[in-house]
Amino acid sequence: MCGIVGYVGKSEGVETLLEALSRLEYRGYDSAGVAVLNNKGLDVRKRAGKLQGLIDDLRRHPLHGTLSIGHTRWATHGEPSELNAHPHTDCTGQLAVVHNGIIENYSELKDQLLAKGHRFRSQTDTEVIVHLIEELAKHQPLERAFISALKQLRGSYALCLLSSAEPQRLFGARHGSPLIVGIGKAEAFFASDVPAILGRASSVIYLNDGDVVDLTSSGPRVMDLSGKRLRRSPKEIHWDLAAARKEGCAHFMLKEIHEQPLAIAQTLANRLSVAKHSISFDRRTQSFLNKISQQERLIIIACGTAYHAGLVGEYMLEEVAHLPVDVDLASEFRYRGPLLDARTTVVAITQSGETADTLAGIRMAKEQGASVLAICNVMGSSIAREADAVLYTHAGPEIAVASTKAYTAQLTALALISLYLAHKRQRLLGTRFRQMIEGLSALPKLIEKTLASEAEIKMVAAKYVKCRNFYFLGRRYNYPSALEGALKLKEICPLIHAEGYAAGEMKHGPISLIRMGWPVVFLAPQASVYDKIISNIEEVRARKGECIVIASEGNNTIARYAESLITIPKTEEFFSPIVAAIPLQLFAYHIAQANQCDIDQPPNLAKSVTVE
Ligand code: AGP
Repeated sequence: MCGIVGYVGKSEGVETLLEALSRLEYRGYDSAGVAVLNNKGLDVRKRAGKLQGLIDDLRRHPLHGTLSIGHTRWATHGEPSELNAHPHTDCTGQLAVVHNGIIENYSELKDQLLAKGHRFRSQTDTEVIVHLIEELAKHQPLERAFISALKQLRGSYALCLLSSAEPQRLFGARHGSPLIVGIGKAEAFFASDVPAILGRASSVIYLNDGDVVDLTSSGPRVMDLSGKRLRRSPKEIHWDLAAARKEGCAHFMLKEIHEQPLAIAQTLANRLSVAKHSISFDRRTQSFLNKISQQERLIIIACGTAYHAGLVGEYMLEEVAHLPVDVDLASEFRYRGPLLDARTTVVAITQSGETADTLAGIRMAKEQGASVLAICNVMGSSIAREADAVLYTHAGPEIAVASTKAYTAQLTALALISLYLAHKRQRLLGTRFRQMIEGLSALPKLIEKTLASEAEIKMVAAKYVKCRNFYFLGRRYNYPSALEGALKLKEICPLIHAEGYAAGEMKHGPISLIRMGWPVVFLAPQASVYDKIISNIEEVRARKGECIVIASEGNNTIARYAESLITIPKTEEFFSPIVAAIPLQLFAYHIAQANQCDIDQPPNLAKSVTVE
């Protein structure tokens, strides 16, 4: 939510910012703006709506200058409008601020500033920050005024400040919202996320909460809120610029769906050895997992798609490792008063590592003595840094709002952990363990094979393009698949209502809605619950419901139960949600594409939900 960029260097600032902001579009936004310093002072340009509107405007009426800040805003306080878009300026027009987060005490600060004669133009919480700095800078140098202002803010922020009185530097700060510093050749950046600076910065500093930065083209000076200098070592950026581009694909989502064989292979790399029939992790994660193997209880917390991965993880861990697992939505976990202590391990699953509820959940867990393992995709993210141990999924940057490759990489990571713990706890040994290791290593090829049926899946999707209601039903390992299939469809195709259900729950309510024109997608791969699912299909057919069935290849009898049949390669039930994710993603994608939906940036959604 909200994307921030700041630039200090010799290139044209606005050009640099627009490219960076376009790589942050995936975060979700509803207006955009830039501020640049030139010999006339500060020039600000903002537009409501898509970034393209701002780009077109700036092409017609360019703004020149190098030192600059830019922003994509996801509205929290005040409607998405040009006036409320960032950057916000002070009364004199010499200071400009971009902000991600929420200032909780903004109305109290606003009253004080109004009383001192400040004039406000927007309804945002952000505008108080720039007026507060203006007020404090009347009596002290800008850097001190910036820090004094930060000390008065309550809530969360990633901030960037540009002042016409300081033409060589930007100031930045982080507290509860992500902000990084990118270091390039005689240029430096602030950004919300690494994709924004790919190709320009070679290394990155992941700022901590409480960090304040004075940024010049030769690099950052990081300090704390007392002004004390802090050491922060830059990390080399490994992601490739191609990862932040569509590379000929119509959408990032489609590109990322097709990247899944590679993403899964990267999750397994250096951890799975088929030759030795073994699983291992880096030293810290492995010793953490060895500790978990003695643990009494695991709680998985996550949001959205990552929560669905957690539900699959529950089946995996309980079945093979015999470890009791609870799975909680992070937004519920943090408020329900869970009973935690040193015998509990909390596993946080998150692509971005910045989801506000998941972050708050792990903080609460740690305060109560539990230990925390993160399964995370983004290196250096808040959750990755605050957890006691991290298992990176290494799926590469996921740009589309709808999670695809991060999900199957999370499932793969959970499979690795489950099998490792199962072996450690002596629950899975000998031939059976070796078979599972081989099953895991076969996943990238199996996913490639599943992706090869895209044309078949697209044909099935074409039959249902006009439908506006869907159910997705599954059992056991594929109950979470049903939830995920429904989420994918409604997320990228907002015209459609889709609901995922445990197939066994149908009779307890939802079956009353079954009728012609209300298709039901059944997850019916070869599995221990296959016969039960067939009974559920019969029940739907008896009520004239149309069944789209996802089944294992070679199943010659199922076609008679299905209006439409999609086949997936045969696999162990344990791995089936990973394979079944592919047709569900492609089905949603092709329905959304035929309905001309904004697939990569669905309305109202943000990639990383950094406010609760
Ligand atoms: C997935 O398609 C969604 N965009 C969303 O549900 C997402 O999974 C959720 O917001 C959690 O994000 P995280 O994995 O970055 O924590």
